[in-house]
Amino acid sequence: MQSQHTMINHVELLQEAEAYIRQFGSELAIEEQATEARIVEITAEIAATGTYTHTLEELAYGAKLAWRNSNRCIGRLFWDSLNVQDAREATAAADVARAVFRHIEYATGRGKILPSITVFAPCTDVDSPRIRIWNEQLIRYAGYSQDDGSILGDPISLPFTQTCMEMGWRGAGTAFDVLPLVIQIGSQPPEWFDIPTDIVLEVPLTHPDFPNFEELQLKWYAVPFVSNMRLEIGGLHYTAAPFNGWYMGTEIGARNLADPFRYNMLPAVGAIMGLDTSREMTLWRDRALVELNIAVLHSYKAQGVTIVDHHTASKQFSLFTEKEQRSGRKPTGRWSWLIPPLSPATTATFHNRYEDTELKPNYFVQKAPYES
Ligand code: ARG
Repeated sequence: MQSQHTMINHVELLQEAEAYIRQFGSELAIEEQATEARIVEITAEIAATGTYTHTLEELAYGAKLAWRNSNRCIGRLFWDSLNVQDAREATAAADVARAVFRHIEYATGRGKILPSITVFAPCTDVDSPRIRIWNEQLIRYAGYSQDDGSILGDPISLPFTQTCMEMGWRGAGTAFDVLPLVIQIGSQPPEWFDIPTDIVLEVPLTHPDFPNFEELQLKWYAVPFVSNMRLEIGGLHYTAAPFNGWYMGTEIGARNLADPFRYNMLPAVGAIMGLDTSREMTLWRDRALVELNIAVLHSYKAQGVTIVDHHTASKQFSLFTEKEQRSGRKPTGRWSWLIPPLSPATTATFHNRYEDTELKPNYFVQKAPYES
């Protein structure tokens, strides 16, 4: 006999599944009979097993819709071209790691970045995931607290770096140590894997007009692979579903390298530019910020690594909202995330308003497993 609790969960799951299968059917112009038959099939599967399995098409389209519904993302014009890899059969941590490495390599495309997602086995209860990737991004730099109180590397990575070191990992001790991949299967202890250095593409930063910029010895990794979000499609929770697009320059130049609580490089950039940093009035921060962003765009471009500037990205986003309206949908968005952190009012996005409605399928933030 099934408990009442289990039965309520089954009802909810079926409702979510049905809503998604109907959306899938209507957007892809699938015959109504086929959709109804699929719902009957899913109903039976849930009754018998407590869950159901997406077809490859349902999975792929769900991942794309989740991107289309990501209100914080300015790059959604390309939602329909997402490359979806099905890795639901991976069960052991080493299998997951192998699929992740494959993802890093093909999505990096030697610089010609391919927006991609690799989807691992889902669960029906968010609180008992079958697979979790502990990293926030597949590739990120470690952060270390030093004896003199200063921080080496990326301060945002302090807690995760600490966790990795407690598990026995040791970095080289540079400001740009790539953290290991940490995988957890069910409630087993997590396992860590070094990411092969030959699949990690990085871009050393130079400036087209300031030759001494390279003395700063800055670099950044080519591809942002977000790995801590839960993909929800039709009531199924894909708790491990790392995905990537390409960078918008400001993410690196106006945040990662510039924020006072990240690499905090504006004073150093101002110094090599010979700016008067003694008074705010000189706007040395703003001038350093612009040149740092020019260096980022210039270096990625020069190395043949896909990147987009914020003006182009904003135009692409306007195109996305127009296309959505033409398809009879109301585009949703979160204004505070969609405006770029550099010269926001020069982009159309700044002068628009968006409704921040959360639609499903979508990607949801999950709590870091190493933070209590
Ligand atoms: N903002 C994050 C970073 O700087 C990356 C988030 C995803 N970005 C993207 N372009 N898909 O690393």
